[in-house]
Amino acid sequence: MKVTNLDERIHVLDSSANVMTVIRDIGNSGVQEEAFYVLDIGDIVRKHQIWKEQLPRVDPYYAVKCNDSLTVLEVLAALGVGFDCASKSEINKVLGIGVDSSRIIFANPAKPASHIRHAAAMGVDTMTVDNESELHKIKQLHPVAKIVIRIRCDAELAQCQLGMKFGCDPTHEAPNLLHLARMLELDVVGISFHVGSGCQDPPVFQRAIRHARILFNLAIDLGFKPYLLDLGGGYPGVKGSSIDKIAEVINEALAECFPTEDVHIIAEPGRFYVASAFTLATSIHSKRAVRKDPTSPNTVTHVMYYINDGVYGSFNCLLYDHQQVIPLPLKNGCGKMIQSSIWGPTCDGLDQVVENVLLHDMDLGEWIIFENMGAYTLPVASPFNGFPVPKVHVVADEGVWLMLKDAFPLTEDHFVIGNTPSNLRLGLDIGGTNIDGWTDPSIDMAASEILAGSSDPTASFLYDYVEKMVRGRMLDL
Ligand SMILES: Cc1ncc(COP(=O)(O)O)c(C=O)c1O
Repeated sequence: MKVTNLDERIHVLDSSANVMTVIRDIGNSGVQEEAFYVLDIGDIVRKHQIWKEQLPRVDPYYAVKCNDSLTVLEVLAALGVGFDCASKSEINKVLGIGVDSSRIIFANPAKPASHIRHAAAMGVDTMTVDNESELHKIKQLHPVAKIVIRIRCDAELAQCQLGMKFGCDPTHEAPNLLHLARMLELDVVGISFHVGSGCQDPPVFQRAIRHARILFNLAIDLGFKPYLLDLGGGYPGVKGSSIDKIAEVINEALAECFPTEDVHIIAEPGRFYVASAFTLATSIHSKRAVRKDPTSPNTVTHVMYYINDGVYGSFNCLLYDHQQVIPLPLKNGCGKMIQSSIWGPTCDGLDQVVENVLLHDMDLGEWIIFENMGAYTLPVASPFNGFPVPKVHVVADEGVWLMLKDAFPLTEDHFVIGNTPSNLRLGLDIGGTNIDGWTDPSIDMAASEILAGSSDPTASFLYDYVEKMVRGRMLDL
């Protein structure tokens, strides 16, 4: 298998290194000025483990729009995850890494004609619809499509509401769509919904699943054979967040409304998988001390820091995704805290990252770290004003490397082990600096369980084998 992704080789860290030591090593190398990301693929593997533990009946179809990094897609494909694509180019990206078209749902209820034609040509048949015109379009362009009716059921509280744009009313419009689909001799295979991204209203999943059950019954009465329930996205993913409550509600509602195994339950998690996997390091390139106290003209009342990424880059998530970001100075400060603000590098006054925060005085060249920057950041970032979108350094610990190095589409060639020259060139000559307070939770699920469902039939054999090797090595020590 050829390596498709040479730009984002995965650097295998020794046991003394972690995301923060990597950031420190790169930041303090003296040669790094630009902002950069560190992507820890172990974090994605741990999320998958949590998903499988909490939602054993629900197969995840990752929402590519959330972060379309090739490495993210390859890791998720290796774990056996399916994909929710919104467009022709997302479909191509996923097919391009070798994922079978049957593992893709085209989950955009309003699709341009050329994208439907492309999906048909590529064998991507399952697609969502929430209006009559889309049904007519599909009848013309992809008459054998497997149609999933997307209904609206909004969370009372969510980071980003989607219901004002997509989803038909489940009690009036959805039945009409089922009747129309019957008339057009289209194949309705299921129901989907999206309660809103960053859902903070777990009971909404119960309401939505109950609506879906009613529509399944109607579809069956009309002669359809629905087999797919798609629970959409909405699951939180930042460090310290939990899907426990949402999972409890979903599992109970599934047991009540879909107790048998004949319905395939899927979901389209985006931020859950990637939010915490990406950490952004920015550096201060300029600074302005503001003196606004007329009674004490020499006293600094506020410090403005200008960093090398902003709202036109990664921090577009402040505007579009309503995220809140927390600046973490890399160096421990001392002395008194000063009211400060943090600004992006462009010449636009809108380009403000943090409006008001208490910080120790920092110098030019110092690094400010932002965790949880994996969701809805990079795919939207632009190099406006000529400031580049940050590069991503990808890391994994040895256990993750052993688990994934032969899991298609990943290969050994995707990984770089030890302090090879390419590691050194990247500033990844990890010395094992000890960083307080950052612990790397270990993976305690067996590799074969994490990878269960992977499309590669040899996968579970391989991971049992790797497991045994690792255990054997541990016993030797
Ligand atoms: C159709 C669809 N599915 C899934 C997602 C992912 O949602 P989340 O990141 O909240 O899991 C989105 C986000 O906009 C979406 O539009």
